[in-house]
Amino acid sequence: MANDRLIIFDTTMRDGEQSPGASMTKEEKLRIARQLERLRVDVIEAGFPAASEGDFDAVRAVASIVKESTVCGLARANEKDIRRCGEAVKPAASPRVHTFIATSPIHMEKKLRMEPSQVIEQAVRAVKWAREYTDNVEFSPEDAGRSDIDFLCRILDRVIKAGATTINIPDTVGYTFPEHFGRLIRNLRERIPNSDKVVWSVHCHNDLGLAVANSLAAVLNGARQVECTVNGLGERAGNAALEEIVMAVRTRRDIFPCDTGIDATQIVPASRLVSGITGFPVQPNKAIVGANAFAHESGIHQDGVIKSRETYEIMRAEDVGWNANRLVLGKHSGRNAFRQRLQELGIVLESEEALNAAFKRFKDLADKKHEIFDEDLHALISEEAMDHLENERYKLVSLTAHSETGERPYAKVVVTESGREQRAEAQGSGPVDASFKAIEGIVKSGSELLLYSVNAITTGTDAQGEVTVRLTKDGRIVNGQGADTDIVVASAKAYINALNKLQSKLERVNPQV
Ligand code: KIV
Ligand code: ZN
Repeated sequence: MANDRLIIFDTTMRDGEQSPGASMTKEEKLRIARQLERLRVDVIEAGFPAASEGDFDAVRAVASIVKESTVCGLARANEKDIRRCGEAVKPAASPRVHTFIATSPIHMEKKLRMEPSQVIEQAVRAVKWAREYTDNVEFSPEDAGRSDIDFLCRILDRVIKAGATTINIPDTVGYTFPEHFGRLIRNLRERIPNSDKVVWSVHCHNDLGLAVANSLAAVLNGARQVECTVNGLGERAGNAALEEIVMAVRTRRDIFPCDTGIDATQIVPASRLVSGITGFPVQPNKAIVGANAFAHESGIHQDGVIKSRETYEIMRAEDVGWNANRLVLGKHSGRNAFRQRLQELGIVLESEEALNAAFKRFKDLADKKHEIFDEDLHALISEEAMDHLENERYKLVSLTAHSETGERPYAKVVVTESGREQRAEAQGSGPVDASFKAIEGIVKSGSELLLYSVNAITTGTDAQGEVTVRLTKDGRIVNGQGADTDIVVASAKAYINALNKLQSKLERVNPQV
């Protein structure tokens, strides 16, 4: 069996970022990009540069630091988007422009209001504009899963002639089934004259829970790039999960005639990082990266595993990064050890002052918590970055919360609003509820709480609690995060973080709407 390379194209920072509330700052994108490089993904889709100045800057910054992976930006099939994208990825060692236009009858008629022939001409122009910046151009016929195959053949033939080097077939709405999707890829490859001149790629959404199955069916039918995201993050039900694609292909070498270049031991660290930054927790029973994925809990299974691991284990936990680099630092660790571990994690602090401030935070945490793990360091750096964000309107100064059996819990908070100290107290059904009410008493945001979740960052009762608070107001959705060994404090920090995000006027344009 030929052992081809399966290209892993990670779109966590583009499609993943399109999940409500998952937007990332430039600094967060840089941390994720470094981790994706350690994971050895082939292509990093860093964002949609035309969305805003901030998005452009973030993609450009990622393009400037990534050395090994190709850095890609997304652009709609118009000249302005493509030129922004071309400029943003220019600093990359290996830049790619990814342009797309919808090809399904419903999208062409209702969204684009264009005739099919106009769509073809626009796609051809788009690819030619993109080629002015790089010879690495990807084209996607959006909603290909619901497009007419004859039309797909016509448009793809033309964009290949215009210079596209990767053809990506998206199942934008997660509508297809493995057999159908696999056949689609095979038919396109067989029917389009120059199909062997391009890499065939797929991009599947998970609305029917089939994103990974569809992607793998496509691989069996000749696709050699899969677009996926860490933890399956992405619009609505998400995208195909990177970790599942990689491990399926690797575990079933008997079926797949290809393998990826991924360093699988970096999968769990990547999962933790993305979950921590976006505030999208990983469900315990999630394949590969869920907390229970390798916990063989039933007595029968445990017995089987002890006698012979292969009885129930088809993969080894350590091969995907569980238990990797668990214990890192403690109370007595010095500044150099701290700095070195940050460097190993790909965290670059811009100045000595930033390092000093982070080190102080580390010492404070080490006073409360015996062992500091990599996840703690990531949370600590996120907190430090949040504290230094300019335009932060609200800051938590202090919090007192009281709960006692039989008493109504209450909380007192001190918050600064644009530097001016304000105090409030409130009762609630629990200390978290009371703190939120007290904070809302000051801020009067009128926002609605959509989600509140707490996760222990590491194990043990001294673990930091990582809280996500999702708020909505006037149609906008934001996620706030906070971490602390005291979960009431972590909750207040997360709430304030979300309120600050609601305040900022930053609007992200969704490229597909
Ligand atoms: O789902 C989709 O169709 C996309 C394209 C922009 C590739 O994300
Ligand atoms: Zn998508």
